[in-house]
Amino acid sequence: MKNVTNVLSNEHQTILRAIDAVIIACEKSEKSNELDKPYFEHVIYFIKNYADKFHHAKEEDILFRTMLEGQGGMHCNPIPVMLSEHDEGRRYVAGMEEGLSQNDKARILENVRGYCYLLQNHIYKEDNILYPMAESALDDTQKEEILKQYKEVEAKSFTVDELKEMLSKISSF
Ligand SMILES: [Fe+2]
Ligand SMILES: [Fe+2]
Repeated sequence: MKNVTNVLSNEHQTILRAIDAVIIACEKSEKSNELDKPYFEHVIYFIKNYADKFHHAKEEDILFRTMLEGQGGMHCNPIPVMLSEHDEGRRYVAGMEEGLSQNDKARILENVRGYCYLLQNHIYKEDNILYPMAESALDDTQKEEILKQYKEVEAKSFTVDELKEMLSKISSF
């Protein structure tokens, strides 16, 4: 049996490591009198490009879409909740951007932390509920097609070095 979720779970580990660093950065920022705007700009850049444009797009446009096409294999459908959490994440990002443009540290921290806790929870649900469900609901032909589509997204996205650079900017504060 082919597997289409291990690669996404590995991306979750990258996102969770980034979130751990960002939560610590928020604590430091709270105690400081200054606002490190470039740092939070890097956080937004990582979320928009890696967590959202790359990872969430793979889920929404490829995995979830294929699961919804063959709903017969699913006992219940958790996908609408997952999609609404992706949207909730995007609202937090908008809040971070507004906070940054207003130099409002409290607003930034509130939205960054909200995003981090949302994603920790969201990732837990995907790793433990949705992904196992996907593995049993999809057949090998569907999985083959999904893997092909992942490859197309990956070919158009950033390199490993670019990802490392993105991560280094939010892990060093
Ligand atoms: Fe997701
Ligand atoms: Fe995910």
